[in-house]
Amino acid sequence: MKLLVTGGAGFIASNYIRHVLHTYPDYQVINLDSLTYAGNLENLKDVEDSERYTFMKRDICDSHVADGLEFDAILNFAAESHVDRSILDAQPFLQTNIMGTYNLLEVARKRNCTFLHVSTDEVYGSIEDGFFNEESPLMPNSPYAASKASSDMLVRAYVETHKINAMITRCSNNYGPYQFPEKLIPLVILNAINSRPIPVYGDGMNVRDWIHVVDHCKAVDTVLHKGTSGRVYNIGSRNEQPNIDLIKKILSKTAEKLDLDENKLMGLINFVEDRKGHDRRYAINPLMIEKDLGWKPEMTFDEGIEKTIEWYTTNNQWWGRIISGEYIKYYNLQYGERLDT
Ligand code: NAD
Ligand code: DAU
Repeated sequence: MKLLVTGGAGFIASNYIRHVLHTYPDYQVINLDSLTYAGNLENLKDVEDSERYTFMKRDICDSHVADGLEFDAILNFAAESHVDRSILDAQPFLQTNIMGTYNLLEVARKRNCTFLHVSTDEVYGSIEDGFFNEESPLMPNSPYAASKASSDMLVRAYVETHKINAMITRCSNNYGPYQFPEKLIPLVILNAINSRPIPVYGDGMNVRDWIHVVDHCKAVDTVLHKGTSGRVYNIGSRNEQPNIDLIKKILSKTAEKLDLDENKLMGLINFVEDRKGHDRRYAINPLMIEKDLGWKPEMTFDEGIEKTIEWYTTNNQWWGRIISGEYIKYYNLQYGERLDT
């Protein structure tokens, strides 16, 4: 197969491209990415010389985005993905996540190719008890989540109206290598290493369901090969944790790994003003993809988080460049007045 992957210089899609190139010796991948602050070609340094891999700097909002390219399927990972940024400025979220998806759906319609849309559990909003399934109503609470829900609706409309072959995946919180350190887990690890305060929003009791990025990539790949058009597939690993427990676990493991004073790292924890509209709990029921398609998460959280801490503590070159410049500007804007220390 020849796959057109959008957003391939970002966290999840770079892991996905690596997975595909390693798993299928005859597959080709074209990576289209406009290289926003979150896109980093170093995420694919190890595969960039492969004859089966091509990178092109293109914007999914450009109606000529796929001109001159041949492919069997589009996997749309490209997005503005950070909730806090969508609270500061929603415009790029509406542009890329809604208009960009529309644009790619038009490409899929005209080329008659498969379309796999990578969405998120955040479209369901927050749930106090129980779990989201694929029939749960969409109740997005942040501009980011609303833009993703809108794009999901467009995919549905193109299946119904134009009969394109399309699937949607909705995954829970990912962690693992190459994640931009504005997201909680890499932020905690890097701030611990660099003795910077760790901002915990509100009371720290918001719950997320964490899945290792490689398990997510395998699930997306399973849906691509075995999924039914028009279906939504929820992806999660039944690994719910309140933020504060997760943060303490990471600090404890980081202290052990680097032989640092655990109490000192715990002292970096800094409760700050809550995120606006902060969803209390996400919890996914992944039964459909498990039963119908035979996918199951393979990585336990302990194994995954240890590997992740190992990765960030040994890849200083990768994050060294990232946490200077644009990231520091964002960090100061986001936390400057909220942190005590
Ligand atoms: P990311 O922010 O790390 O990467 C996004 C990538 O998209 C970047 O490389 C960026 O340059 C590119 N991009 C942005 N706008 C573009 C445009 N207009 N044209 C072309 N490229 C553009 O994101 P991520 O965390 O890897 O998330 C990937 C996808 O998975 C997103 O659609 C997100 O909604 C979804 N998702 C993320 C998570 C998570 O926990 N991170 C969980 C579930 C679903
Ligand atoms: O559920 C899937 C979603 O997970 C994806 O669709 C999003 O793209 C992805 O960013 C993620 O959204 P969250 O908002 O859940 O992830 P984030 O890492 O930003 O925050 C995780 C939790 O930690 C959340 O409850 C907010 C809290 N938090 C986050 C940061 C960055 C803090 O307490 N302190 C922080 O500094």
